[in-house]
Amino acid sequence: MPYAHITGWGMSAPESVLTNDDISKMVETSDAWIRERTGIRERHIARDDQFPSTLAVEASIKALKVANLHPRDLDLIICSTSSPEHIFPATACLIQDQLGATKAGAFDLLAACTGFIYAMNMGAQAIRSGSIKSALIIGTETLSRFINWKDRNTCILFGDGAGVLVLQASEQPGGVLSSVLHSDGSGGDLLTLGRGSSRYPASESAILDGKHYIEMDGKEIFRFATRIMVSATHEVLAGAGLTLDQVQWIIPHQANIRIIEAAARGLKLPMERFIVNVEHYGNTSAASIPIAMVEALEKGQIKPGERIVMVGFGAGLTWGALAAEWTGPIPSKGHVRPERYRLFARLRSLVRRALRFIEGLFYRREL
Ligand code: UT7
Repeated sequence: MPYAHITGWGMSAPESVLTNDDISKMVETSDAWIRERTGIRERHIARDDQFPSTLAVEASIKALKVANLHPRDLDLIICSTSSPEHIFPATACLIQDQLGATKAGAFDLLAACTGFIYAMNMGAQAIRSGSIKSALIIGTETLSRFINWKDRNTCILFGDGAGVLVLQASEQPGGVLSSVLHSDGSGGDLLTLGRGSSRYPASESAILDGKHYIEMDGKEIFRFATRIMVSATHEVLAGAGLTLDQVQWIIPHQANIRIIEAAARGLKLPMERFIVNVEHYGNTSAASIPIAMVEALEKGQIKPGERIVMVGFGAGLTWGALAAEWTGPIPSKGHVRPERYRLFARLRSLVRRALRFIEGLFYRREL
């Protein structure tokens, strides 16, 4: 049975940075309060012309370059996002087209901030079963578009960005070792975004009711998060037949430093064993775990042969964890340059649109 290895990684964050001081000019809050209660100093906010697919494509190109994998050799693209560009088409399909991943299946996965763990599980299972050889696992968000900048309860928390990992099949033991996925829809009302849905179709009243913004019961989410971080970590380790001592790094969902500190206390681990970057990105939802992992890999913090646990929670409610052994990049021949392929991908997309148009003309004549 093949193993699913992490062979490529990349991230992207919009250049524009919004500091706590900037936010304190919009709502009654302060840098000191936000830092003390959340650990966040700043977050990145997408420009009007940056979308989840834009950020994801930038991150994917970096990840494919590291993996030395050509976009046309990808079998599957899973895009976890809570801020899809449309209800349909899937953001994953927009990314597939922009990358020129000609033979890849592509779909979106919505499990809120736990989405990346769900997506890693799905991609790894497909590789372990032998049905595919490679998958691009994406977490990408522009949640800033759904924030009420007058609500100090939520506007201080979220940021935009994308993180991507490449999974590839290999006979060498390692890679994704185990994962656990959970949900509890009875807590669905604790964190919601209703806009443009079948429950709240776009309408004047939906806008007046503020249904196009994120609404959150922060205290309840906080209590739920501190409970599950510890239990999910223990559960995933039991599934992999590992103890906490055999794991070097915990990569938690970056929502609030106090939630991470509570998890560290619950697991009786020092904070040094946690990968933390919430200070500079805020909560980037499905992108938070991969962005933290990519930064740690790029800094050389995570070393080949080390084991990691990703653990996260989010709206739904959903939560989960994934244990993996990172064996380092797989040696391969030649140099794939996916960034150079982008122009070809764009041309290919245009040609396909033109052919579809011409085909449509003939079809209409036949009728
Ligand atoms: O991916 C999952 C996404 N969501 C989360 O992870 C959210 C989890 N929850 C949290 O991170 C925290 O609950 C918050 C950061 C949202 C709030 O922190 P808290 O320590 O739970 O604050 P609180 O809601 O208990 O509010 C304490 C006080 C209140 O004032 P009073 O009633 O004690 O006078 C709030 O009105 O702080 C006030 N407050 C603020 N003050 C300044 C709430 N938000 C702010 C603010 N600035 N931004």
